[in-house]
Amino acid sequence: MRRLLVIGNWKMNGSKVDNQALLSAVKAQSESVSHADMAICAPFIYLPQLGDQLSETSINYGSQDVSVHVEGAYTGEVSASMLSDFGCRYTIVGHSERRQYHSESNLLVGQKALSTIQAGMVPIICFGESLEQREIGSALDVIGSQLQAVKSVIGDQGLLKSVIAYEPVWAIGTGLTATPEQAQEVHQFIRGKLGNIAEEISILYGGSVKAANAEDLFKQPDIDGALVGGASLDADEFINIAKAV
Ligand code: PGA
Repeated sequence: MRRLLVIGNWKMNGSKVDNQALLSAVKAQSESVSHADMAICAPFIYLPQLGDQLSETSINYGSQDVSVHVEGAYTGEVSASMLSDFGCRYTIVGHSERRQYHSESNLLVGQKALSTIQAGMVPIICFGESLEQREIGSALDVIGSQLQAVKSVIGDQGLLKSVIAYEPVWAIGTGLTATPEQAQEVHQFIRGKLGNIAEEISILYGGSVKAANAEDLFKQPDIDGALVGGASLDADEFINIAKAV
């Protein structure tokens, strides 16, 4: 049975004071959300704050990245077991901003997913095509090879412990959203590639999701929720997206 999820990705935003206000506002309205599980992925340094403020709620939290290494001389890295130690349920791996600005390869993304799973958490594995790739008609090929590369590292058993997010790069932070039909086409393609485990895996859409477009996206049969960037920084927007599930 696929879980319906709305996950906020705060990216590199926030401060102790702002987070306190945002989390209080989300918490205050969270009981009005009945059909979706909610989570927030925050910068590493604020995860203890999320742990404190979300402890009495059903809202989970996680990181936006994770090391492939278990421990040792890896300056600046944060391991999966450290994240688990701080109560994280999720890590985002393979976000297009990591692929683009930190040259993360498909193989590395698969390894990050594996280290997350081995620490008992759930990787949210992001796939998506660039505008150029869409325009030349290779979107599905690109996504198929991103998925295949991750699958070769974590296998079906790993995928069963993962969440997938389809995030067209051209729709992230641009205000452009894939139409519900464009998104559904890719989600259906991904589900087809997952074979006999397909019905067990949640596939989220991400890319300029807002309260105003969420409902039409969620009506699509293969869209199981959203990974929400900018709109997750506004409590009312975030809650209204979750209510639209
Ligand atoms: P956006 O970001 O909602 O601001 O487009 C989505 C994401 O990058 O996860």
